[in-house]
Amino acid sequence: MPAHDVLIIGAGLAGQRAALAAAEAGASVAIMSKVHPVRSHSVAAAGGINAAISIDDDWTSHAYDTVKGSDFLGDQDAIEIMCSEAPEEVLHLEHIGVTFHRNEAGLLDLRAFGGASMKRTAYVADITGQAILHVLYEQLMKHHETVDRYEEWFTTSLILDDDGSCAGCVARDVRTGAMEVFSAKNVILASGGAGQCYRPTTNALICTADGIAQAYDVGAPLMDMEMIQYHPTTLAENGFLITEGARGEGAHLLNSEGERFMEKYAPNKMELASRDVVSRSEQTEINEGRGVGEDGGGIYLDITVVPKKRVLEALREIVNIGRDFAGTDITREPIVIRPGQHYIMGGVKTDIDGRTPIPGLYAAGEVACVSVHGGNRLGANSLLDTLIFGRRSGEHAAARSAGVPMPSAPETRLHEDVARIDAIIAREKSGRRTSEIKDELGTTMNRLVAVYRDENGLREAHEIVRRLKEEAGTAYIDDGGTVFNQDVLGAIELGYLLDAAEATVVAAIERKESRGAQFRTDFPERDDDEWLKHIDISRNGGDAPSVSHSPVTITRWQPEERKY
Ligand code: FUM
Repeated sequence: MPAHDVLIIGAGLAGQRAALAAAEAGASVAIMSKVHPVRSHSVAAAGGINAAISIDDDWTSHAYDTVKGSDFLGDQDAIEIMCSEAPEEVLHLEHIGVTFHRNEAGLLDLRAFGGASMKRTAYVADITGQAILHVLYEQLMKHHETVDRYEEWFTTSLILDDDGSCAGCVARDVRTGAMEVFSAKNVILASGGAGQCYRPTTNALICTADGIAQAYDVGAPLMDMEMIQYHPTTLAENGFLITEGARGEGAHLLNSEGERFMEKYAPNKMELASRDVVSRSEQTEINEGRGVGEDGGGIYLDITVVPKKRVLEALREIVNIGRDFAGTDITREPIVIRPGQHYIMGGVKTDIDGRTPIPGLYAAGEVACVSVHGGNRLGANSLLDTLIFGRRSGEHAAARSAGVPMPSAPETRLHEDVARIDAIIAREKSGRRTSEIKDELGTTMNRLVAVYRDENGLREAHEIVRRLKEEAGTAYIDDGGTVFNQDVLGAIELGYLLDAAEATVVAAIERKESRGAQFRTDFPERDDDEWLKHIDISRNGGDAPSVSHSPVTITRWQPEERKY
């Protein structure tokens, strides 16, 4: 049975950064991913990474902007760590080979991003995540003797030992269908978010809440799950991301009357207010009949005001996306966008070293909730979060591995998972396909658990999710084979998505106020007296999840009214 000091599940930026840190600390490391590492969803992160590296900037300003962006729900101890460690992390990336854009003076160039009080986003055109991911993968190759790579292995369950510590996982080789147990002194979940709970979403098909549901299944609490980020600029047709970098470079948002409507909602920051504010403003314009596009459900993003030379240099990917997926030349005409699901602020509750309450189980990146984003994440803080807390988790897990014996993970879960997969394959081909259930989940969440929410809609969403859970128990798939059987993996992922969606809906029902990305039309005000606290969600057998609360850590910034 393979055994490692540190087993990392997920090979995007958080996972690869954790692997490098753990390997550099001398641990025996393995990194497991259901896709090839450079196909991880971090590859889609476009606009950049925040760090106070400019001579006239200061990490406390970055931290304050992040706290304000979070609508004061972010934990300030974690935010201080993320922002104070950011400059060194970005310079480290540059030193290992990330080709960040430079300005005419030869210094790292910085672009404007939403919610930031100054330009502090380092970038590689609009492919920043891809550029960093490839460089980290190269670095990982240097550690090939101490880092084993299980590429295209799909984790089916985490394993706890008798004293409740994490002891490893069960996984399936996607290429062959073989199932195996992996023992580990420490497991770091770095498997990304849950965007596929929504349809459409900017997230890749692989973002199916795997780590969230696996941690939840073994008793780890989830936190801030109600906080779902809608990105202000996703393609109206299909939800593809049009980077915030466009607005950072000066693009305007216009309604059907040609008005730069952000003047009404955020007169100081305009299009560069924080994402929750911009998305809500767009949705209000649409709801009040000033939308554009065929069904009036869109808004114009006008990039023609940015010099063409600059667009071709700094925003070339969205030039391609506009041309290929909307038939629009964004250098010549506005493109129709709308708010679309992009990110989850919540996830597996961790401390500042990535530890969950389960000994030996860590989480970092979008799967985790530290919580540095609170009610709303600032653009370009997600790459930073993955790297800072990926590294810290890797370092902590490596140090912990020196003091604990190698567990021998029991095989019970292996037998259960093999039986579970065999049963899915053997289901009678009648009733609903798993893919239909996934579609219904996505459209339901996008209709009822979106930019604006209310009690009736959320309760309806919960009923639908509960019904879909029942239906998923008998839904069928078509592929009965073992080689690259993505169909059976999709059925398992559907279970993960339904767990994550239920946690989101239950938390959104619980929070009876409006804060950050959660806007309740029936409770339109922020209520710090009652709700300046996190909502924690735990598994409750087959019943609806159980809800508890935990305090927000405040170090230096007291809550105040948020204006942009
Ligand atoms: O708009 C973007 O480029 C997305 C960045 C982010 O979510 O951090």
